[in-house]
Amino acid sequence: MDFLALAKKRYSVRKYTSDKVEDSKVATILEAGRIAPTGANKQPHHLIVLRKEEGLKKISKAANVYDAPLVIMVCSHKEGSWVRPFDGKSLMDIDASIVTDHMMLQATALGLGSVWIDYFKPDVIKEVFDLPDYLEPINLLAIGYASEEPLSPDRHQETRKPLDEIVSYEGFEK
Ligand SMILES: Cc1cc2nc3c(=O)[nH]c(=O)nc-3n(C[C@H](O)[C@H](O)[C@H](O)COP(=O)(O)O)c2cc1C
Repeated sequence: MDFLALAKKRYSVRKYTSDKVEDSKVATILEAGRIAPTGANKQPHHLIVLRKEEGLKKISKAANVYDAPLVIMVCSHKEGSWVRPFDGKSLMDIDASIVTDHMMLQATALGLGSVWIDYFKPDVIKEVFDLPDYLEPINLLAIGYASEEPLSPDRHQETRKPLDEIVSYEGFEK
Protein backbone atom coordinates (compact mmCIF):
# COMPACT_ATOMS: atom_id res chain seq x y z
CA MET A 1 0.00 0.00 0.00
CA ASP A 2 1.41 3.41 -0.87
CA PHE A 3 1.80 6.04 1.82
CA LEU A 4 -1.22 8.18 0.94
CA ALA A 5 -3.50 5.14 0.85
CA LEU A 6 -2.24 4.11 4.29
CA ALA A 7 -2.71 7.62 5.69
CA LYS A 8 -6.25 7.74 4.30
CA LYS A 9 -7.05 4.35 5.78
CA ARG A 10 -6.18 5.47 9.32
CA TYR A 11 -8.94 6.88 11.47
CA SER A 12 -9.46 7.34 15.20
CA VAL A 13 -10.69 4.08 16.70
CA ARG A 14 -12.64 4.46 19.93
CA LYS A 15 -14.00 0.93 20.25
CA TYR A 16 -11.67 -2.04 20.65
CA THR A 17 -11.94 -5.78 20.99
CA SER A 18 -10.29 -7.29 24.06
CA ASP A 19 -7.69 -9.04 21.86
CA LYS A 20 -4.14 -8.33 22.95
CA VAL A 21 -1.70 -6.78 20.50
CA GLU A 22 0.92 -9.40 19.63
CA ASP A 23 4.44 -8.86 21.02
CA SER A 24 5.95 -8.76 17.52
CA LYS A 25 3.54 -5.98 16.50
CA VAL A 26 4.29 -4.00 19.65
CA ALA A 27 7.99 -4.34 18.84
CA THR A 28 7.45 -3.12 15.27
CA ILE A 29 5.42 -0.13 16.45
CA LEU A 30 8.12 0.82 18.96
CA GLU A 31 10.78 0.47 16.28
CA ALA A 32 8.83 2.89 14.06
CA GLY A 33 8.90 5.35 16.97
CA ARG A 34 12.58 4.77 17.61
CA ILE A 35 13.64 5.67 14.09
CA ALA A 36 11.54 8.86 13.90
CA PRO A 37 13.41 12.07 13.22
CA THR A 38 13.79 14.65 16.00
CA GLY A 39 15.25 18.15 16.06
CA ALA A 40 19.07 17.93 15.95
CA ASN A 41 18.56 14.16 16.52
CA LYS A 42 18.25 14.87 20.25
CA GLN A 43 15.66 12.07 20.81
CA PRO A 44 14.28 13.52 24.05
CA HIS A 45 11.41 11.03 24.21
CA HIS A 46 10.77 8.12 26.49
CA LEU A 47 8.03 5.62 25.71
CA ILE A 48 6.08 3.93 28.49
CA VAL A 49 4.23 0.86 27.25
CA LEU A 50 1.08 -0.13 29.12
CA ARG A 51 -0.37 -3.55 28.36
CA LYS A 52 -0.98 -5.09 31.76
CA GLU A 53 -4.14 -4.57 33.78
CA GLU A 54 -2.40 -2.56 36.46
CA GLY A 55 -0.91 0.00 34.07
CA LEU A 56 -4.07 0.27 32.00
CA LYS A 57 -6.09 0.85 35.17
CA LYS A 58 -3.68 3.57 36.24
CA ILE A 59 -3.85 5.41 32.92
CA SER A 60 -7.66 5.24 33.00
CA LYS A 61 -7.52 7.51 36.06
CA ALA A 62 -6.01 10.24 33.89
CA ALA A 63 -7.74 9.75 30.53
CA ASN A 64 -10.38 7.91 28.60
CA VAL A 65 -8.32 5.38 26.68
CA TYR A 66 -11.39 3.62 25.31
CA ASP A 67 -10.50 0.27 26.92
CA ALA A 68 -7.70 -0.22 24.40
CA PRO A 69 -5.48 -3.20 25.29
CA LEU A 70 -2.31 -1.21 24.61
CA VAL A 71 -1.44 2.37 25.44
CA ILE A 72 1.90 3.96 24.67
CA MET A 73 2.63 7.03 26.71
CA VAL A 74 4.99 9.31 24.83
CA CYS A 75 6.96 11.43 27.29
CA SER A 76 9.69 13.98 26.70
CA HIS A 77 12.73 14.89 28.72
CA LYS A 78 12.20 18.58 29.50
CA GLU A 79 15.88 19.43 29.16
CA GLY A 80 16.60 16.92 26.41
CA SER A 81 15.23 18.60 23.31
CA TRP A 82 16.79 21.09 20.96
CA VAL A 83 15.91 24.69 21.76
CA ARG A 84 15.78 27.34 19.04
CA PRO A 85 18.22 30.04 20.14
CA PHE A 86 16.30 32.93 18.56
CA ASP A 87 13.14 32.58 20.65
CA GLY A 88 13.86 29.79 23.13
CA LYS A 89 11.22 27.48 21.64
CA SER A 90 11.75 23.88 22.75
CA LEU A 91 11.06 21.17 20.18
CA MET A 92 10.00 18.74 22.92
CA ASP A 93 6.33 18.52 21.89
CA ILE A 94 7.10 18.43 18.18
CA ASP A 95 9.63 15.61 18.60
CA ALA A 96 7.24 13.56 20.72
CA SER A 97 4.47 14.09 18.18
CA ILE A 98 6.56 12.89 15.25
CA VAL A 99 7.35 9.74 17.25
CA THR A 100 3.65 9.34 18.02
CA ASP A 101 2.66 9.78 14.38
CA HIS A 102 5.23 7.24 13.18
CA MET A 103 3.88 4.69 15.64
CA MET A 104 0.26 5.49 14.80
CA LEU A 105 0.77 4.94 11.08
CA GLN A 106 2.83 1.79 11.73
CA ALA A 107 -0.09 0.46 13.77
CA THR A 108 -2.39 1.10 10.79
CA ALA A 109 0.03 -0.73 8.49
CA LEU A 110 -0.17 -3.72 10.86
CA GLY A 111 -3.97 -3.82 10.66
CA LEU A 112 -4.45 -2.22 14.08
CA GLY A 113 -6.66 0.67 15.11
CA SER A 114 -5.44 3.56 17.21
CA VAL A 115 -6.38 6.91 18.65
CA TRP A 116 -4.13 9.75 19.67
CA ILE A 117 -5.13 11.15 23.07
CA ASP A 118 -4.13 14.49 24.55
CA TYR A 119 -7.21 14.95 26.72
CA PHE A 120 -5.54 13.70 29.87
CA LYS A 121 -4.70 14.98 33.32
CA PRO A 122 -0.91 15.38 33.34
CA ASP A 123 -0.74 15.75 37.13
CA VAL A 124 -2.57 12.47 37.62
CA ILE A 125 -0.24 10.70 35.16
CA LYS A 126 2.82 12.08 36.92
CA GLU A 127 1.49 10.94 40.27
CA VAL A 128 0.19 7.46 39.44
CA PHE A 129 3.26 6.55 37.38
CA ASP A 130 5.63 8.33 39.73
CA LEU A 131 7.35 10.12 36.83
CA PRO A 132 10.53 12.03 37.58
CA ASP A 133 10.18 15.83 37.41
CA TYR A 134 12.16 16.05 34.18
CA LEU A 135 9.76 13.79 32.27
CA GLU A 136 6.64 15.33 30.74
CA PRO A 137 3.81 13.21 29.32
CA ILE A 138 3.07 14.64 25.86
CA ASN A 139 0.77 12.20 24.03
CA LEU A 140 -1.01 8.93 24.65
CA LEU A 141 -1.48 6.49 21.81
CA ALA A 142 -4.17 3.89 22.39
CA ILE A 143 -3.87 0.86 20.11
CA GLY A 144 -5.79 -2.35 19.53
CA TYR A 145 -8.06 -4.20 17.16
CA ALA A 146 -11.06 -2.13 16.10
CA SER A 147 -14.44 -3.45 17.06
CA GLU A 148 -16.40 -1.39 14.55
CA GLU A 149 -16.83 -0.94 10.82
CA PRO A 150 -13.83 1.01 9.46
CA LEU A 151 -14.46 4.55 8.27
CA SER A 152 -14.12 5.14 4.54
CA PRO A 153 -10.72 6.24 3.25
CA ASP A 154 -12.64 8.71 1.08
CA ARG A 155 -14.17 10.54 4.05
CA HIS A 156 -11.50 13.27 3.96
CA GLN A 157 -13.38 14.86 1.09
CA GLU A 158 -15.89 16.02 3.71
CA THR A 159 -13.89 15.92 6.93
CA ARG A 160 -10.84 17.95 5.91
CA LYS A 161 -10.52 21.48 4.66
CA PRO A 162 -9.80 21.75 0.94
CA LEU A 163 -6.22 22.47 -0.11
CA ASP A 164 -7.01 25.98 -1.32
CA GLU A 165 -8.07 26.89 2.24
CA ILE A 166 -4.88 25.70 3.88
CA VAL A 167 -2.17 26.36 1.29
CA SER A 168 -0.87 29.56 -0.20
CA TYR A 169 2.07 29.91 -2.52
CA GLU A 170 5.04 32.27 -2.37
CA GLY A 171 3.64 34.11 0.66
CA PHE A 172 0.53 34.33 2.82
CA GLU A 173 -2.61 35.07 0.85
CA LYS A 174 -5.18 36.89 2.97
C1 LIG B 1 -2.93 16.10 18.77
C2 LIG B 1 -4.18 15.25 18.81
C3 LIG B 1 -4.87 15.12 20.00
C4 LIG B 1 -6.01 14.32 20.06
N1 LIG B 1 -6.62 14.10 21.27
C5 LIG B 1 -7.70 13.28 21.32
C6 LIG B 1 -8.28 12.94 22.58
O1 LIG B 1 -7.84 13.35 23.65
N2 LIG B 1 -9.35 12.11 22.60
C7 LIG B 1 -9.87 11.58 21.43
O2 LIG B 1 -10.84 10.82 21.50
N3 LIG B 1 -9.33 11.88 20.22
C8 LIG B 1 -8.26 12.70 20.15
N4 LIG B 1 -7.66 12.95 18.95
C9 LIG B 1 -8.24 12.41 17.71
C10 LIG B 1 -8.84 13.53 16.84
O3 LIG B 1 -10.05 13.95 17.40
C11 LIG B 1 -9.02 12.97 15.43
O4 LIG B 1 -7.76 12.61 14.92
C12 LIG B 1 -9.64 13.99 14.47
O5 LIG B 1 -10.95 14.30 14.87
C13 LIG B 1 -9.69 13.48 13.04
O6 LIG B 1 -10.36 12.23 12.97
P1 LIG B 1 -9.67 10.92 12.44
O7 LIG B 1 -8.47 10.65 13.32
O8 LIG B 1 -10.70 9.83 12.57
O9 LIG B 1 -9.25 11.13 11.02
C14 LIG B 1 -6.50 13.70 18.87
C15 LIG B 1 -5.79 13.84 17.69
C16 LIG B 1 -4.64 14.59 17.65
C17 LIG B 1 -3.85 14.66 16.36
